[in-house]
This record gives sequence, C-alpha cells and structure tokens, in this order.
Amino acid sequence: MPVQVRGEVLHRRRVGAYHLLEVAAGGIAEQARPGQFVAVSVGGPTSSMLLRRSFALYRATPVGMYAGTVQFVVGVHGRGTEWLAGVRQGDPLDLVGPLGTPFKLPTTPVGCLLVGGGYGSAPLFSLAEALRGRECKVDFLLGGGSADRVFGELEAKRTAGSVTVTTDDGSAGTKGTVVDVLPDELERTGALAVYACGPMGMLRAVGTVADSYGVPCQVAVEESMACGIGVCMTCVLPVVGDDGLTRMTRSCVAGPVFPHDRVRWDDLGTVPADAFGASS
Ligand SMILES: Cc1cc2nc3c(=O)[nH]c(=O)nc-3n(C[C@H](O)[C@H](O)[C@H](O)COP(=O)(O)OP(=O)(O)OC[C@H]3O[C@@H](n4cnc5c(N)ncnc54)[C@H](O)[C@@H]3O)c2cc1C
Ligand code: FES
Repeated sequence: MPVQVRGEVLHRRRVGAYHLLEVAAGGIAEQARPGQFVAVSVGGPTSSMLLRRSFALYRATPVGMYAGTVQFVVGVHGRGTEWLAGVRQGDPLDLVGPLGTPFKLPTTPVGCLLVGGGYGSAPLFSLAEALRGRECKVDFLLGGGSADRVFGELEAKRTAGSVTVTTDDGSAGTKGTVVDVLPDELERTGALAVYACGPMGMLRAVGTVADSYGVPCQVAVEESMACGIGVCMTCVLPVVGDDGLTRMTRSCVAGPVFPHDRVRWDDLGTVPADAFGASS
C-alpha cells in the first residue's frame, strides 16, 4: 500500500553524470520491492511544479538508524530533476511510494541477464540481490552514452558473475549499445531470463533480441507520468492481456514492469483500433 512520507534528505552525492539521493522515508522502505518507484515532490512548498517526478528505487533499507531509507538515482533532465540535483542534507522531501509493480522472480534457480541503460541500471541492483536470494546466477550488461553515464559498474563487478559494459562513444567497455552485444551475452551466459530497464527504444530492442533466443524478458518502462497513482491516464500504453485483448494500460499501476512480448511497441503513442474500448 503506497504511503505519502515527508522524508528527509540524508545524503546526496555525484555518481558520474548522476546524483544519488538517500532519503529517510520510513513506511516506503519497508514495503518496497525491486522494480517499484517513488513519486517525488520537487521545487519546495511554494513551487509551481505541481507534478511529482518518478524515480525507480535503487535501494530500500527498511531498518537502520533512520528506521527506513530509500535511495534513487537522478539524471538531470529538466527543471524538476535540476532542483533535486541541488538538495542538501537535512532538506525535507515529500515522497509517495512504493508505486507500481515489481519485477517477477523466477520460481527455480536460473541464469538471469540484467540489462541496464544509463540511470535505468539503478533498480537492477536490488533485483540482483533478490535473484541471488533465489540462487539464480546473475550477469550484468550495462550501457550508457559515455563512461560517466554507465551506472553501477563497480558494484556490479563486486557482486555479479560477469559485467559487460558498452558506451556509445567507446569511452568505456565496447563501443556501441547493449543491443549490439546482447546476442553474444545471451550465448556466453546461457541466461534463461532477461530483465531490462532503460530508454524505451533500448527496451524494445533488447526484448526483440531476447525473443529471438526464446528467452523471456521483463522490461521496466518509462512513460511520462503525471500522477503516478493511476488517476490521470497520462502513462497509458497498449498492452495485451492474458485474454489476448489489448487494453490501454496504466504503466504506473499495472507497470512499470511488463513482459516485453505483451507491449505493442509498434503502437506506442496511439490507441490501436482493436484496443478494448477504442472507437474504431
Ligand atoms: C517509472 C519511472 C521511473 C523513472 N526512474 C528514473 C530514475 O531512476 N532516474 C531518473 O533520473 N529519471 C527517472 N525517470 C524519469 C524522470 O521521472 C524524469 O526525468 C523526470 O520526471 C523529468 O522531470 P523534469 O522536471 O526534470 O523534466 P521536465 O521535462 O521539465 O518534466 C516535465 C514533466 O514531464 C514529465 N517527464 C518528463 N520526462 C519524463 C520521463 N523521461 N519520464 C517520465 N516523466 C517525464 C515530468 O514528470 C514532469 O511532469 C523515471 C520515470 C518513470 C516513469
Ligand atoms: S501517471 Fe497518472 S494514471 Fe499513470
């Protein structure tokens, strides 16, 4: 059950091109599961920025000195994230969470390949812990535009079976994208499950490659979200349900995690004529 918490910033530090925030947020940390996100108020109490901004949870620590802390990673994009990149220790921060659906874990120990793009790698680390808790072997494939936009390489190296890095400009790892090396990684690791988080184009391509190897792929999508709690319909995308019917599905409550093969990628941004309730 999501809760609204008036949290307190405990720590903010630069990690490459990003900012890692740790916030005391009891009530959220206790419930959070890998893949879920928080919706954060930005701009302070007199701000005109009314809409909350969504961030995937990197870590949630339910116990400790502050009785519950959450961490998330911020890439500066526009005014809201710029404000967050300037918060200081002790600042209040209003959060709602945990929101959305978590990643589904395999029921048997299988090899899992975790594919992250940019700050999208952040939620994959708590997922990796949960997978290891089920005795799954975990390998990472992390990508970014440049070396400073690859999040979590060192942590991945400490904890995973293997880590492969790609950058668009070749400043770290293999020059190219995660999609370029994915076929080799699937063959090398023998992974039987793929989890991906990053830009929508990357998710689509990663899932398509995984499909071609017959490996199921879960993706955590990033659609624009105005409310984050299922009220406004900003975040809908066409998703095929168990009954084979396409519905315009709210990615903030039914997602952000979806099986890749359920999202109608060609129809993103449209209401397909055969979608439930569409006026064709
Ligand atoms: C489920 C989810 C998880 C996310 N996790 C992270 C994360 O871990 N780290 C991170 O840096 N960013 C993350 N994002 C993207 C982040 O929410 C946007 O970058 C942020 O809202 C932009 O706000 P802004 O004020 O800086 O930009 P502006 O462009 O000024 O934002 C204007 C409005 O558009 C919305 N918006 C703009 N870009 C996006 C976007 N890419 N996705 C969703 N809404 C957007 C904002 O919520 C805001 O209402 C996530 C988004 C979603 C939906
Ligand atoms: S963001 Fe409002 S319904 Fe999903």
